[in-house]
Amino acid sequence: MLETERLRLRAFREEDLERFHRWRNDLALMRLDQPGAVRPERLMDTRAWLERVLSDEKTIFFALGHKASGDFIGTVSLRNLDLKNQNAELAILIGEPENRGRGVGGEALSVLLDYAFGELGLYRVYLWVLAYNEPAIRLYRRLGFKEEGRLRAQVWRDGARHDVLVFGLLRDEWRARASR
Ligand SMILES: CC(C)(COP(=O)(O)OP(=O)(O)OC[C@H]1O[C@@H](n2cnc3c(N)ncnc32)[C@H](O)[C@@H]1OP(=O)(O)O)[C@@H](O)C(=O)NCCC(=O)NCCS
Repeated sequence: MLETERLRLRAFREEDLERFHRWRNDLALMRLDQPGAVRPERLMDTRAWLERVLSDEKTIFFALGHKASGDFIGTVSLRNLDLKNQNAELAILIGEPENRGRGVGGEALSVLLDYAFGELGLYRVYLWVLAYNEPAIRLYRRLGFKEEGRLRAQVWRDGARHDVLVFGLLRDEWRARASR
């Protein structure tokens, strides 16, 4: 539905389920994504989670298809869509470590932000990120997100407390960057 040089942002398909289920059970990955306790999930739990997300009118969920290989490599979404106040929360996940750090996250989020501010007419896109998730924070800053807040010691993990950061990007800031 949306396209970049290397990616297709499309609807989730039945054949994506098994791979997505594997990612949902990847401890290292989930600890980058979730502040809560990571727990194992059955295939039927993943399916139920997806059903909820995909049928939620406040969520727009894209699967990331790699054009050259046809592989399903990740997901991007806008959640808590608030059309009255024109804002939404952004989330991204690239499933396999070998697909990270190659710029696909940046490519996917650029086209998602064009869609959010253009097609959906949003004014603000925000996200939450664990302070130890350096690759993600670098990516958000590179796209122009500004750190808006810090929930100090919000998360306890591995015997230590960690901050959670709130980042936000406004439509005018995104457009000013895009026209540079
Ligand atoms: C965060 C994530 C979406 C980034 O996508 P990506 O395709 O890897 O991102 P990009 O390659 O476009 O950019 C990543 C940036 O982090 C840097 N980076 C890569 N690995 C890194 C590491 N281990 N430590 C610090 N920085 C790193 C890259 O060099 C790049 O920075 P640069 O633009 O300054 O060169 C992806 O890594 C991911 O899905 N991680 C697991 C799930 C997750 O953390 N989701 C976000 C939750 S808030």
